[in-house]
Amino acid sequence: MKVLLAIIVFLAVAAGAGAVFVWFGCFNVSARVPHWDITVEAIEVLRDRSIIVNSRDVKTPPMTDPALAPKGAAIYNEACIPCHGAPGISARPFSQGLYPAPANLLSGSIQSEWEYGQLYWIVENGLKLTGMPSFGSTYEKNEIAVVIAFVRRLPKISPGEYERMAGSRKE
Ligand code: HEC
Repeated sequence: MKVLLAIIVFLAVAAGAGAVFVWFGCFNVSARVPHWDITVEAIEVLRDRSIIVNSRDVKTPPMTDPALAPKGAAIYNEACIPCHGAPGISARPFSQGLYPAPANLLSGSIQSEWEYGQLYWIVENGLKLTGMPSFGSTYEKNEIAVVIAFVRRLPKISPGEYERMAGSRKE
């Protein structure tokens, strides 16, 4: 009985402390105040496990036909460039204010970290509590597949090739 009472008192105090924390605005939601390192690590594990598990059911096959590259480039140029930039083209200045910062899609590290289906899932669904939008309601499945095929090649594409494939940046 005493143990039960102790648990109830502990939970009540914890709930009270939580309510005080929230009510007095102790958590700063400002995008200019970074998380603690331990919070960043916890969020990364949460995000990565979520992507790995939820992308297992992706059925859409990769679009590897090189003839589709210009289509992938055109979609990238329209939908991704403001935040991720492209070979020879910087991202829009506003993207510097995003927290977390947009992933670097030009270095090749994202392409070696994620497989095709995982990249597909990220772009179709977006990433909650980050600036990464979901494109599943604005693009067809085959359009997302084509842009992913393009993203996988992106680190090897030169600025000149990019311009030839995509034309100039859409305003
Ligand atoms: C409005 C800004 C914005 C746009 C537009 C955008 N992204 Fe992102 N993207 C982000 C941000 C912010 C992150 C980082 C999320 C994180 O750290 O978890 C991200 C992360 C990613 C990731 C990597 C996930 C990881 O491991 O961090 C991929 C892949 C990606 N974006 C692809 C795309 C593609 C392809 C497009 C276009 C179809 C696109 N993004 C459009 C903001 C954007």
